[in-house]
Amino acid sequence: MNKESKANHSIHPIIDGRWSPRAYSSNPIEKEKLQSIFEAGRWAPSAFNEQPWRFNLGQKGDETYNKILETLVPWNQQWAGEAPVLVLNCAKKTHARNGKPNVTFKYDLGQAVALMCVEAVNQGLISHQMSGFDPEKAAQLLEIPDDYQAVSVTAFGYYGDVKALPQDMAETEIKARERVATETFVFSIFGQASDLI
Ligand SMILES: Cc1cc2nc3c(=O)[nH]c(=O)nc-3n(C[C@H](O)[C@H](O)[C@H](O)COP(=O)(O)O)c2cc1C
Repeated sequence: MNKESKANHSIHPIIDGRWSPRAYSSNPIEKEKLQSIFEAGRWAPSAFNEQPWRFNLGQKGDETYNKILETLVPWNQQWAGEAPVLVLNCAKKTHARNGKPNVTFKYDLGQAVALMCVEAVNQGLISHQMSGFDPEKAAQLLEIPDDYQAVSVTAFGYYGDVKALPQDMAETEIKARERVATETFVFSIFGQASDLI
């Protein structure tokens, strides 16, 4: 299903084409496409180029997939359990260079995940990020070291059948995507809309 953004200004069709569906097909993702997704994350920028992101890749049927699925809140389990791939997104909390806290570890991870989701569109795939999961349970089940934090989970796959979703989810799935107006977040002085907008 196509849910373009109806953007006010010209943006790249791949950015326009990204959205967060819940209706996943059971089709697996080809190995090369999955490799491209992680390659896109690899080329994300990061503070001091430390690349603090770490990913646990779960593919349907394997132990990692089942463990990631187990950490999701029941609402997310309902739909995400159909996706062929679940990725646990983690990052290193301290700098590799000096051991001090890395204040941008989640920021850097988010950039990698965003590029992975954009690359997914390029590969004809869909993605859906989730913070509705239990990070402590994830750390325990997937043996995440203390210096790393599990931050979110991403589902990847092919688009499926909206009719297979529970009714409340199916209704959300077909609703137009919404965003606040640009003047509410692009300022000259904070709180005053920029002349650009
Ligand atoms: C960090 C983050 C956490 C999210 N957590 C959840 C979640 O737990 N469950 C869910 O169904 N969607 C989740 N979403 C998806 C958002 O609800 C979705 O991106 C937002 O409504 C905008 O819709 P769009 O991506 O289709 O444009 C999350 C997205 C992000 C970036």
